[in-house]
Amino acid sequence: MLTRRAFLGAGTTATVGLAFTNEGLARAAAAAASVADVPPNDLARDETYWREIQQGFTLDRTIVNLNNGGCCPSPRVVHEAFKRYLDVSNQAPVYHMWQILEPNIETVRRRLAAEFGCSPEEMAITRNASEALQIAQLGIDLKAGDEVVTTNQDYGRMLDTWDQRARRDGVTVKQISFPVPPPSMDELANRLISAIGPKTKVLHFCHITNLTGQIFPVKKICDAARAKGVKTIVDGAHAFGHFPFTAADLGCDYYGTSLHKWLLAPIGTGFLYVRRENIESLWGLQPTAASRAKDIRKFEEIGTHPAANHNAIAEAMTFHQGIGTERKSARLRYLRDRWADRLLKTGKFKLHTSLDPAQSCAIGTVQVLGVETNKAVSHLWDKWRIIATPINHAEYTGIRVTPNVYTTLEEVDTFAEAMEKISAGS
Ligand SMILES: Cc1ncc(COP(=O)(O)O)c(C=O)c1O
Repeated sequence: MLTRRAFLGAGTTATVGLAFTNEGLARAAAAAASVADVPPNDLARDETYWREIQQGFTLDRTIVNLNNGGCCPSPRVVHEAFKRYLDVSNQAPVYHMWQILEPNIETVRRRLAAEFGCSPEEMAITRNASEALQIAQLGIDLKAGDEVVTTNQDYGRMLDTWDQRARRDGVTVKQISFPVPPPSMDELANRLISAIGPKTKVLHFCHITNLTGQIFPVKKICDAARAKGVKTIVDGAHAFGHFPFTAADLGCDYYGTSLHKWLLAPIGTGFLYVRRENIESLWGLQPTAASRAKDIRKFEEIGTHPAANHNAIAEAMTFHQGIGTERKSARLRYLRDRWADRLLKTGKFKLHTSLDPAQSCAIGTVQVLGVETNKAVSHLWDKWRIIATPINHAEYTGIRVTPNVYTTLEEVDTFAEAMEKISAGS
C-alpha cells in the first residue's frame, strides 16, 4: 500500500488507464486501495485519480452538465447491470423477473441498510424520494386541527402533499422561513424548534435543501422534536451518497431519499427508512393485508414493476463504495469551492450557500448581481452549452450549480469564465 508521501511523490500511476467497466471494477477497487492512506482532501486534488472516475461514465462531453440535482447519469457499470436485468426479465418475466430477479431485492435492502446504518427491517425500496416521503406524509394518522411544521424552502411536491392533507383532512400547515445562508446552524435549528406548538404533531424538513444546498442540523432538531412528542420526517433526497452520515447522526422517525441523484443508481430508485416503532402505525400508499402491518415490505406493494431498476442499486453501491463517501464529498466540495472562490473574488456575485463544510457540499447557488437569473441561465445554455438550474424563490434568486464526480476542472473553469462574461455583459 502506498504511503501518503509515496503517493504524492510518485503520482498515481497505479490508477492510470483503468476505467469502471464491468471488467475494470476490480482493478478500480485496487486503485482505490492504492490511495487508501491519502487523506480525502489531498485526493480531492489528484486529477489522475479522478480521471479514472470520469472515464467510468458514458457522457455527452459536448455539454457541461452542472445540474446533478435533478437526476444523474449512472456509471457505465451500473447502466450495464440495469440493461442486463431488463434483458433477463424479458425472457419470461413471470419466471425471470418475479422468481429470479425480484427476490434479490433483499440484497439491495441489506446493503442500503448497512450503508445508512439501520436494520434491513426498517428499509423499504421505493421508486424515488417523492414516493418515500409521501408514504410518510400521507400514511401518518392526523386529524383536523393537528399541525405540521415545515419550511418554505422544502420541495414543492412535498409542500403540495401537505397542502392536500390540509384541504382534505383539515390539518394545519405552518411554513417557516429562514435566510440563505443562515447566520448559524444553531439559529436554523432554533427557528424550527421554536415553531413547534401545542398542536404540532409532525416536523418535516430537508436534510439538505435542493434550493441552496443548505445542510440542516438534523439531530439537534429531531431530538428536540422527540422530546416534545413530535414525529420527524426528513427529506434526504439530496443527501444519501452525497456526504457521510448514518441514521444515528439523524435521529429522525422517517427518512426518504432518491438514489438516482447522488448514489448514481438507475432512474426510478429511492428508499424510505421508517424507525421500527413507527412501522405498524404507518399506512401504505397502496393498501396491504392487515397481516403485513409490521412488515416494512408492505410499502413496496406497488403492483407489477421492473426489478431491473432496484436490483441495479447493488451495482451503484459497489461503485459508490469503491470511491468512498468521504472522498466523494471532499472532491465535490473542492469543485464547488473552485468556481465559488473565483467568482466571489470579483465582488459581482452573491452566494446563497455557506462555504462551511458542515453546512454544504456539492450544491452552490449563486446570483449574478444586476443580471436576471433566467436570462443568465439561458445564456449559459445558448452560448456555452452549460446546464445549470434557475432558482427563483420568493425570497431570493440565483443559479444552482451541481457538479458530480465525473465533472472535470476544465468544465468548472469554463462555467466560471462564462459567469464572469455574463456579469460583464458579454
Ligand atoms: C429536496 C427534494 N425533495 C424531494 C425531491 C423529489 O425527488 P424524486 O424526484 O426522486 O422523487 C427532490 C427532487 O429534486 C428534492 O430536491
